[in-house]
Amino acid sequence: MAIEPLRWKGDRLELLDQRLLPEQTVYLACHTAVEVAQAIRDMVVRGAPAIGCAAAFGFALDSRKRLNLQTAYACLAASRPTAVNLFWALQRMRAASDHEQEALRIYTEDLACNRQIGLHGAALIPVGARIMTYCNSGALATSGHGTALGVVRTTFAKDRSITVIACETRPYLQGARLTAWECVQEGIPCTLITDNMAGHLMSKGEVDVVIVGADRIAANGDTANKIGTYMLAVLARRHRLPFYVAAPTSSFDPASADGSAIQIEERPAQEVTGYRGARWAPEGISVRNPAFDVTPAELISGIVCEKGVVLAPDRERVRALLA
Ligand code: MRU
Repeated sequence: MAIEPLRWKGDRLELLDQRLLPEQTVYLACHTAVEVAQAIRDMVVRGAPAIGCAAAFGFALDSRKRLNLQTAYACLAASRPTAVNLFWALQRMRAASDHEQEALRIYTEDLACNRQIGLHGAALIPVGARIMTYCNSGALATSGHGTALGVVRTTFAKDRSITVIACETRPYLQGARLTAWECVQEGIPCTLITDNMAGHLMSKGEVDVVIVGADRIAANGDTANKIGTYMLAVLARRHRLPFYVAAPTSSFDPASADGSAIQIEERPAQEVTGYRGARWAPEGISVRNPAFDVTPAELISGIVCEKGVVLAPDRERVRALLA
């Protein structure tokens, strides 16, 4: 059965609570923009395109209740800072006259984009490739199908010999909990590793290609994605492996000239000092928890979006793509 991260019910938005996966599949009902914003902040729903879709539906909920839409916009925009899809979706919602229809359009367009990304990306994947991916850029992170994991899905439909290497993605474990779960659900052969094993596997010739998603792509192709992505891109270059980013054009932000303009979310220290109530670090320790990093365009072999593939992305090529 298809994985449904969001279910629109007219008077409410039901979100598959990703905090509880893979152990439980429970939907959380949101009735207002404030509730949706809280769900985004709490990681009930996460992944750049899924956050954008959720915010659009949150806006539509308040519109339906004739609540103040400036307040709805402000609270949703304040939920998480890095994924540009959130702001892109809210701007579309603000400009629309029929808010429910516009939210549904954003949702269905995202699904269509993912399927196109899958087709364009699959053309880049060698037969039988061992594909390393990071974080979760699958159905759970979008309206369905996924971006980087969508490329895996589309490729697997025609080539059953590919395999996935999922990095666990410390500290929030989106790889271990979510990407691994999606692969198990669909019978896609997947091996889970801890993040610090990536270089070793590459050096042993056990990886053919790396593909990841994006939270925000700057005008010059610099790409913000889950913390640790930059490390993988450096490793891929060291081992002469192709490193691809897969993302819809709603993840591009021409207003950010380069990666230094992208705001990186800093998340709570507890995500680093422990997990789900277990604590392994001493009280009083100082912690950093940036949730994203920026991979410079020069380390990216290509960006796959619904319009096609930009090889060796730079300012000119990104501009041409978005024109
Ligand atoms: O903190 P998260 O889980 O929202 O981070 C998600 C990612 O970094 C994904 O790779 C990105 O949003 C692309 S999802 C298609």
